[in-house]
Amino acid sequence: MSDEMHEARAAPPSKNPSLFARLKTYVVATPANAERLEQAPFGVPIDVQIDPLRVASEAFLDRLQRLDVVTFGPEGLPMDKWVAFDCAQLPGFTYGFCLPVEQLEERERAAFELPDDAEGWVPVSTYIAIPMFEDGCWFGHNLASLNRAFPWRGLHHLASVTKAMALRAFGCQRFIGATQWTSMALHIHTRFGPLTLDTAYTPAHSKPETLTYSFTVTEESLRAALGDPAVELARPSADFELSAEDVEGMQRLQRRIEEGERYVLVNRPRVVEGHIVHPIARVG
Ligand SMILES: CC(C)(COP(=O)(O)OP(=O)(O)OC[C@H]1O[C@@H](n2cnc3c(N)ncnc32)[C@H](O)[C@@H]1OP(=O)(O)O)[C@@H](O)C(=O)NCCC(=O)NCCS
Repeated sequence: MSDEMHEARAAPPSKNPSLFARLKTYVVATPANAERLEQAPFGVPIDVQIDPLRVASEAFLDRLQRLDVVTFGPEGLPMDKWVAFDCAQLPGFTYGFCLPVEQLEERERAAFELPDDAEGWVPVSTYIAIPMFEDGCWFGHNLASLNRAFPWRGLHHLASVTKAMALRAFGCQRFIGATQWTSMALHIHTRFGPLTLDTAYTPAHSKPETLTYSFTVTEESLRAALGDPAVELARPSADFELSAEDVEGMQRLQRRIEEGERYVLVNRPRVVEGHIVHPIARVG
């Protein structure tokens, strides 16, 4: 690791401050969109700017696609490049942390299938969000981190930090996301506070066992997700739990939401005898 990488730089309080000391930050955005970005979210400058309209960006964008494969695993479907271009890079932003190629170990270079003469930056996390029609509202499209794929790197909390930094960089005021009840990413999304359930069962999605959730983005919610020990978010107590396998329960909850009742996902899931259950509260 070079001396430059050890230089102390501004960083918000977080669960893993070494992420800011050891990694650089990048953003993928067209020049027009880049103008609207906050250039130093939480005081952390964006080190690498990737313009999807330039041929020179090809290697980095290919590595981003490879990050999808390495994190989601062989069974995961890597996003086609046209999907990333049409649905993320042109309309929105991609934010994440990266390392210079020279700092990768042999096994890490192999995971990214890097040729011997590879140069430039390699992404270790990514967060993609797309602007909604509503002012200040963003849809979360993808999140990935190498923490679990490269456990020797000490990247714990990387996904949570990446999402929080990204939402600040994008100037997100209200956030909407969609994910499956079985997704481990709910451990991360619930760090931002209780999540309003806009759907609990979603036949419009290819996986109907999907929830659509939203929250108001505040300084506190972002700092909580970063892991700032000074922030403690208020959360209502749960009225009941929903199993990630209980499709009928999801459909019942969906009917109540469509009838006008309001529910929040209170906190992260817990695992009971190998089954994931989610705490839910009625708030209206
Ligand atoms: C899921 C993923 C984003 C997590 O990244 P990460 O950097 O490890 O996330 P964080 O460290 O910020 O937080 C993960 C939390 O979930 C918890 N968790 C529990 N089971 C988990 C599991 N099977 N997989 C991942 N996280 C799990 C972790 O313990 C951690 O909480 P803790 O810090 O209190 O221990 C990463 O593993 C990944 O990219 N997976 C593949 C892509 C994916 O599923 N993306 C999300 C859907 S878009």
